[in-house]
Amino acid sequence: MTHPRNDLLLRALLRQPTERTPIWIMRQAGRYLPEYNQTRTRAGDFLSLCKNPDLATEVTLQPLARFRLDAAILFSDILTIPDAMGLGLYFAEGEGPKFERPLRAEWEIRSLSAPDPSVHLSYVMSAVSQIRRALDNSVPLIGFAGSPFTLACYMVEGRGGTDFSVIKKMLYQRPDLLHHILEINARAVTDYLNAQIEAGAQAVMIFDTWGGVLSNAAFNVFSLQYMQRIVEGLTRHKDGAEIPVVLFTKGGGQWLERLAATGCNALGLDWSTDLAGARQRVGSQVALQGNLDPAILLTDPDTIAAEAAKTLESFGYGHGHVFNLGHGISQFVPPENVHALVEAVHQLSPAYHQV
Ligand code: CP3
Repeated sequence: MTHPRNDLLLRALLRQPTERTPIWIMRQAGRYLPEYNQTRTRAGDFLSLCKNPDLATEVTLQPLARFRLDAAILFSDILTIPDAMGLGLYFAEGEGPKFERPLRAEWEIRSLSAPDPSVHLSYVMSAVSQIRRALDNSVPLIGFAGSPFTLACYMVEGRGGTDFSVIKKMLYQRPDLLHHILEINARAVTDYLNAQIEAGAQAVMIFDTWGGVLSNAAFNVFSLQYMQRIVEGLTRHKDGAEIPVVLFTKGGGQWLERLAATGCNALGLDWSTDLAGARQRVGSQVALQGNLDPAILLTDPDTIAAEAAKTLESFGYGHGHVFNLGHGISQFVPPENVHALVEAVHQLSPAYHQV
């Protein structure tokens, strides 16, 4: 009896019939919520919040207490893996993530190894099982990780917000070194996601946030290939249920056919991709998740409802759509605008499922 009472998300990701379109929001537990900021202050900082399973559980549930969302997503970060590899992750206030020891020298790269999730990332697995207990089978819990390439961007550059010149130089001059990092990352992500599934994650998503900065040829070799390996290595069935896998390459709209061919169940789309066109291209193979421009949430309830209607209309009639933003929610969004979005999807989407 571990199946969630509201399983719309799981069914939609598997392209099974649903009565309406499920909705969750990337970064739904985050700084736009005053109660999140309070809990983060109690934790001390963002990383301490991630590493405290009680508080991580608390913030995971916060958006669900406010809005009629159809899924919870583990509160954590993609950079827990490089942190567990010993790179020294820290978040400088207002500056995003940084590493004390980025990977530059060949000997540093050669001594890298995949962390054992049950040792170095046990706090994440504790959070997953605690969140599952707290959810009490109400909605499914999504686990996640970064893609090998996206993790490598932070590990090599040493910080976010760069022009990717260091990793691109490595890609073209020393592809052997980058491949070494990516192989270890792929092993680490596979083990990490399987541990999350073992601990209770009911769907998993791989964030390839920076795959879109690669050239057409380099995307296959340095990102797609490694995500494919992960998809092939994941536990896809547990306790009689299928565990859907979602791949999200931001800026990857031109590569949807290749992403769908990895054997994943669903693709995340950013707002630059036309949902109707994407469905025509890959909709018989995978479900689609997205793709409202996150900036729309900065407007007003009427505009938000009108834009949500356009997104639903763009996917059209039938199943296999999970409503989401095209990327994470901004910290400047008024919570009542999220309420307007969630309610609009509840109200408008049943019409598209009466088929
Ligand atoms: O969706 C959720 O609610 C789950 C939580 C989640 C976080 N990070 C929490 C977070 C998820 C799924 C992530 C993924 C993540 N982290 C990605 C991939 C998705 C994406 O957004 O592209 C990336 C690239 C990271 C790395 C990272 N973590 C960055 C670049 C930053 C700074 C960004 C910012 O908004 O300042 C973070 C910090 C972070 N991760 C925050 C949250 C809620 C904000 C930290 C804070 O509270 O100060």
